[in-house]
Amino acid sequence: MQYDSSSSATKTETRAYESWRNKYAKEPERCTSYETLRVKPTGRRIQNWLDCRMVMRALRGLPRGSTVLDIPCGGGRISRALTAAGYKSVSADYAHSMALESLPAARSAARADATRLPFRDGAFDAAVCFRFMQAVPHEIRLNVIREFGRVAKLVLVNYHCALSLRGVVRQLTGGKNLRNRLTEPQAMAEVVGAGLTTRRCEYKMKFWFEDFLVLADGAPATAL
Ligand SMILES: C[S@@+](CC[C@H](N)C(=O)[O-])C[C@H]1O[C@@H](n2cnc3c(N)ncnc32)[C@H](O)[C@@H]1O
Repeated sequence: MQYDSSSSATKTETRAYESWRNKYAKEPERCTSYETLRVKPTGRRIQNWLDCRMVMRALRGLPRGSTVLDIPCGGGRISRALTAAGYKSVSADYAHSMALESLPAARSAARADATRLPFRDGAFDAAVCFRFMQAVPHEIRLNVIREFGRVAKLVLVNYHCALSLRGVVRQLTGGKNLRNRLTEPQAMAEVVGAGLTTRRCEYKMKFWFEDFLVLADGAPATAL
């Protein structure tokens, strides 16, 4: 592993992350049901629509036909939206069954680890990392962002915002996914800390929902 796992807090966080990651990788039934749970119920369908709208807003200006990497792709909901918008989407996931699940939505799919991407430098016009960072310790997040910056010219990283109505409700009701929520300046600083140049943030619905994206230039920078 390329990350520093020396402190005991980091070790505990890393173990929690690895067990979360391995659940998807080792339980194919989780993968087959993922898209059904994530996208089909009415409330989720609206959330999914808002998530995809945020990604499309962030990609505004990127010409149709550009290649966009979606990792981790899960069941392929973001890849599907990318394809529908005219991008050549490549989906990838640590879980082989997730990559397979997403294939109908993408031009191609691969099993890949976001901390060590098996793609050449600058292979993609853009790369999207959606609903991942909330489960990943800081040191590993830095690795992931560096890898995104290496393979893509434009990088979109999704974070959960520490300041949102939904976040507060979750906090009060003891909901899931309360870890690793960052403010916009903290998220921007993390991306800069990984060596990328940030552009701006795009929100799903500012102050209401937790999800937002940090947009950054990978290497080499795009002229968009
Ligand atoms: C919560 S799902 C999100 C999927 C998708 N981005 C979405 O928004 O629907 C998390 C995904 O991360 C994948 N994953 C976990 N660790 C990974 C890693 N190191 N590299 C690539 N994928 C990983 C899991 O297999 C799972 O599909």
